[in-house]
Amino acid sequence: MVYEATATAPVNIAVIKYWGKRDTKLILPTNSSLSVTLDQDHLRSTTTSRADAAFEAGDRLWLNGKEESIKEGGRLWTCIKELRGWRAAEEAKDAAKPKISTFPLRIASYNNFPTAAGLASSASGLAALVASLAALYELPQSPSDLSRIARQGSGSACRSLFGGYVAWQEGVEADGSDSLAVEVAPREHWPDLHSLICVVSDAKKGTSSTAGMQQTVQTSPLLQARLKVVPQRMTDISKAILDKDFDTFAKITMADSNQFHAVCLDTQPPIFYLNDVSRGVIALVEELNRAHLEATGHLLAAYTFDAGPNAVIYAPEANIATVVAAVNKYFPQAEAFPDPFKVGTAAALPAGFNE
Ligand code: ADP
Ligand code: DP6
Ligand code: CO
Repeated sequence: MVYEATATAPVNIAVIKYWGKRDTKLILPTNSSLSVTLDQDHLRSTTTSRADAAFEAGDRLWLNGKEESIKEGGRLWTCIKELRGWRAAEEAKDAAKPKISTFPLRIASYNNFPTAAGLASSASGLAALVASLAALYELPQSPSDLSRIARQGSGSACRSLFGGYVAWQEGVEADGSDSLAVEVAPREHWPDLHSLICVVSDAKKGTSSTAGMQQTVQTSPLLQARLKVVPQRMTDISKAILDKDFDTFAKITMADSNQFHAVCLDTQPPIFYLNDVSRGVIALVEELNRAHLEATGHLLAAYTFDAGPNAVIYAPEANIATVVAAVNKYFPQAEAFPDPFKVGTAAALPAGFNE
């Protein structure tokens, strides 16, 4: 009997950013956050977990084919321990349940997009881990319950337990029991909102989100000002989503992304996640919005950047073609413009060429 389960989880990109922990062990945030879960057919993590009594003692995990250590007391270890504990409780209630909670685990995960490049791989990755173990252990817990576990793997991962529009409520309890993800609206509520991922660089970032936000909490005075404005933004953007009010959604999304990067710059030593191309994308979308606002009274698109240089652009479906055309015009992609100096076979030589 093989006990194995595979699960996939999507990426989510925050429009109100989580950046700062009040408790680094339990991963409790300094502010609530809100995100849009992207479609799984593009960016996703796929995780397979297997439990087998015949495995050598100790759990092991591979990420993109490379083994990662599961350190005692670390995040992966905590998630596994909690879920295994829930399984053990089910086994204790029902003698017919095989005691697979006692078996060592082997876990393999793959991301089909750049890892640790500011495209939220920790969100989909830890959500997929929790989802695959929950399936393996046949756990009865709800997505919100599971989001509390995923949160302890990577804060942003708690939001990937839901599709659509998702809030992570910071909570007030010291044990983290009320710091969890809730659905603001399902995907079907506002299917007209589309997203465009512009990969500026797929390189691993220099400062991990975990290290960067801790540095910010310790050194940035601007973070305190940010924490005062986030609650109103949470209320306003939730309403904008419920009202399908793109202009308000876009205004708040861009303001929050810019404020998050300002806080990074205010950190000591400063953290630079954006690069010149990222700033070029900001300038382009701002200019497109200015022109569109003048012509139609509405905004065209909204940009947001996580802890990396890659842009995520949200726009109503009807505007996506305009955004793609402008991005391709000002940021031509390597594939569209092949290397001009390739050595190859000669073109047909003109008559008389060799004479
Ligand atoms: P990102 O911007 O991609 O979320 P982070 O710095 O937040 O970058 O986190 C990257 C880390 O998340 C990786 O180094 C790895 O430890 C973890 N991670 C990413 N994907 C997975 C996965 N599929 N399974 C387990 N852990 C993962
Ligand atoms: C900028 O969830 O990756 O993407 O909790 O330390 O794993 P840890 O950090 P992580 O931070 C995400 C930061 C962000 C904003 C967001 O997703 O809300
Ligand atoms: Co992350």
